[in-house]
Amino acid sequence: MEPITLLENKHIVLGVTGSIAVYKAVDLASKLTQAGALVDVVMTQAAREFVTPLTFQSVTGRPVYSDLWHRENEAGLGTHIAHVGLGEGADLLVIAPATAHTLAKLAHGLADDLLSVTALASRSPTLVAPAMDGGMYQNAATQANLETLRSRGVIVIEPEEGRFASGLAGKGRLPETAILLGHIRLALGKSGAMAGRRVVVTAGGTREPIDPVRFISNRSSGKQGYALAQAALDAGAEVTLITTVRDLPLPLGARTVPVGSAAEMLQAVLDHLEGADALMMAAAVADFRPKTTARQKIKKKDNSDEAPTLTLTRTPDILMTVKEHRAQAGWPRVVVGFAAESEHLLAHAQATLARKGLDFLVANDITAADAGFEVDTNRVVILTAGDAPVPLELSSKTRVAEVVVERVAAHLS
Ligand code: CTP
Repeated sequence: MEPITLLENKHIVLGVTGSIAVYKAVDLASKLTQAGALVDVVMTQAAREFVTPLTFQSVTGRPVYSDLWHRENEAGLGTHIAHVGLGEGADLLVIAPATAHTLAKLAHGLADDLLSVTALASRSPTLVAPAMDGGMYQNAATQANLETLRSRGVIVIEPEEGRFASGLAGKGRLPETAILLGHIRLALGKSGAMAGRRVVVTAGGTREPIDPVRFISNRSSGKQGYALAQAALDAGAEVTLITTVRDLPLPLGARTVPVGSAAEMLQAVLDHLEGADALMMAAAVADFRPKTTARQKIKKKDNSDEAPTLTLTRTPDILMTVKEHRAQAGWPRVVVGFAAESEHLLAHAQATLARKGLDFLVANDITAADAGFEVDTNRVVILTAGDAPVPLELSSKTRVAEVVVERVAAHLS
């Protein structure tokens, strides 16, 4: 697990209650710690029936709290002040898994163990992830308690449908770590530099159809676009991700619009651009497409070497269309383009920046083995209209995305 800038040195109190899903909380505590967060685990007595505090202590490297009355670890806070100290210093309180019993206590302000006392004293944003048998989850009492918590601003992470340890099926399973992490990022990002901004991101290589089974595409993986969408979410933006990619995990919280060809991508961009603050065109839009698309699969002829000839034609240039549109409508307020070049990087990039009327252009030398398509790193130069180009050292696509989003946020403010 790579460090996550948004999580670095964030103080997260992870409340763990007595559910079989506790094992997933161990993974969550581990991933949060690897990502750079400081995780203080508070366990209920029931949670300790499933795993020992030592398990959490091992993955977080920090003391684990559970007893309201005893000082249980010399290295930790005395528990007589822990409930105030833990709640006050936290950036976020996450209760996962949260049993029906704990939710009821939270909804009614009961405070009879360290976790419920900590939650009551806490002033940080709170997330709860209910995990219980389907019948318990659907019960009117549980639903009413969740409604009460929501009305007080608590973020409730919807449980998933599936099979329970009891063998029954229904809604009530704790989501996987990636989903929990996504919600935690959304909650922490809310007050970021892009809070209230609307961002449209495009990702992936377009697919230009030859016939119903074949297409022309390119080597773009979509990773840079997905990293941009995640960085914008981490900064608090509302994100629409227009994508040709099918096999990358979606950044939680983004509205996703799947597309195929350049023409479809252009339509999707125009459909979602109204009032947008920024457009980041990371997609590798094909410049050419087959002039005609066969309605049926093109068949080879038996005993013949004959092959069809493809005639290509230009695709619409999305950024040029946006440029015209922006001149009239005034939005998007910021436009970022991406260029993949194999020679004369700066000269080509400067020309594209000017021609397409961009505020920023992220230019990338695709001849380097450690940069460009499919790999996780990029070696880019950021060009800004009216400013000197800024080369970044070899960085993860995540880091490149963060730098771009920081610049866009600064430009918008
Ligand atoms: N782009 C676009 N519509 C197209 C082609 C590209 O909006 N039909 C966008 C890409 O998403 C990217 C930028 O334009 O943000 C790239 O500019 P472009 O001049 O097409 O660069 P390259 O394709 O790298 O260069 P060229 O085709 O000139 O070799």
